[in-house]
Amino acid sequence: MRKVFIHLPQPSLKGSVSVEEALYRRRSVRSFGSDGLTLQEITQILWAAYGKNAYGKKTAPSAGATYPLDIYLVAGNVEGLTPGLYQYNSENHILTMIRSGDIRDALAQAAYQQEFIGFAPATIILVAQFARTTHFYGKRGERYVFIDTGHVGQNVSLQTEAMGLGTCMIGAFDDKKVSDLLTVKGDVVYLMPVGRI
Ligand SMILES: Cc1cc2nc3c(=O)[nH]c(=O)nc-3n(C[C@H](O)[C@H](O)[C@H](O)COP(=O)(O)O)c2cc1C
Repeated sequence: MRKVFIHLPQPSLKGSVSVEEALYRRRSVRSFGSDGLTLQEITQILWAAYGKNAYGKKTAPSAGATYPLDIYLVAGNVEGLTPGLYQYNSENHILTMIRSGDIRDALAQAAYQQEFIGFAPATIILVAQFARTTHFYGKRGERYVFIDTGHVGQNVSLQTEAMGLGTCMIGAFDDKKVSDLLTVKGDVVYLMPVGRI
């Protein structure tokens, strides 16, 4: 089957909310408005998660620059995106469609029926490739992968807040059910449903 690529718009490097204000106002949001997200909005959040920075690296630090995370997007109500599962490629700033179909409710069920996940227009999913980091750091690399994950989560959290949108970090989910649903390589470590407040 021919792969579907979506070339994303450029992210903005200026916002109207300061880092200090975003830190002050950030909180977990578990109830979302019914309106969807624009492609520009989801692009901004994907870029904040793991996009390219001014130095050719990424917006989040990574132990030994091993970048163990793959960034996936479950889109359900995003302008210009067919509902489905996508992977964000930060090198080329594109989304690759993995498969079509709205899996938001199935994702909510796999996360111990946290129903609000099913109502979010989109969910960002962090998937770890532990070997990228443990290859260099051995057992200690496992710790580094989780620390890296926290950095990316915080980037998403603050960017979302600065845009007047909401998210909630989700660590409680059934590993096997989520893995069976996504069928992607690696270990799913974090889900971040994003939507309007
Ligand atoms: C590692 C981690 C896992 C979390 N998992 C969940 C979750 O599965 N469901 C949920 O509703 N909130 C989850 N949260 C959000 C926390 O409950 C929330 O951050 C905490 O209550 C503090 O509230 P605040 O984010 O509004 O400041 C998680 C947060 C972290 C850091």
